[in-house]
Amino acid sequence: MSVKATARDAVNHILRPFDIQMVRGRSADQSVKSYISARRTIAAARTAGLSVGDYIDQTFATPGTTARTVAEMLRLGGLTSARRVCEIGPGTGRYSEKVIEALHPETYLIYETATDWWPHLRALPHAVVQPCDGHTLTPTPTASIDLVHAQKVFVYLPFETVMGYVDDMIRVARPGGVIAFDVITEECLTDDLVTAWIAAGTIYRPVPREWLIEYLGRHGVHFRGSCLVRLVEGRTELLVFRKSG
Ligand SMILES: C[S@@+](CC[C@H](N)C(=O)[O-])C[C@H]1O[C@@H](n2cnc3c(N)ncnc32)[C@H](O)[C@@H]1O
Repeated sequence: MSVKATARDAVNHILRPFDIQMVRGRSADQSVKSYISARRTIAAARTAGLSVGDYIDQTFATPGTTARTVAEMLRLGGLTSARRVCEIGPGTGRYSEKVIEALHPETYLIYETATDWWPHLRALPHAVVQPCDGHTLTPTPTASIDLVHAQKVFVYLPFETVMGYVDDMIRVARPGGVIAFDVITEECLTDDLVTAWIAAGTIYRPVPREWLIEYLGRHGVHFRGSCLVRLVEGRTELLVFRKSG
């Protein structure tokens, strides 16, 4: 079995009790990672009598996790309103819903490679699903976005893909705009966790925290703070930045 198939099986093993499975890769592009099936997830949420967002929180985190994470991101970014927001890899849109409720943006741009989620995402208020090449935010003009964020996405993308997106987040953020994304940093790792991930064939891709913070700083984007957020197994660190302006 290939490493990719082994990793997918490890994740499916985690998800199986909830009757959800990662769908097979939709793309030969190694930067485009699989995600849970829209059809099965929406059906499972309906059966549980929950919104899709609440269902994901209850199944993969703890109830209220998404709302708390969004509140912390907005607090660290000093954001109470925003005209234009952009999100990479929203999946079910559970973070999008909370950000839209809090900031009431005129436009909420979405870059999502799992096209089966597009109809669900298009139903969010003011959402505009963009063509997504899995690497860039090319359709979005430079310096046009008040908040650009990605949640639980960069944790499993290759380093070069993460850095490509980071560069484009820096480009699209307006002066004074907020950039937020979570990554697995050394703050998130323990020896036991790493041992368990390796044994299971981990999909996660840790990145060096201090270098990343300094990299954004060298591009005029300054670190405002961070918080730790639960993953299916382990945790991830949400980093929040503000572009000088
Ligand atoms: C682990 S899920 C997280 C979904 C959502 N942000 C959440 O936290 O519930 C990762 C998301 O990123 C999407 N994705 C995978 N590869 C991507 C890429 N190269 N560019 C943009 N999105 C990608 C997946 O389809 C999925 O929606």
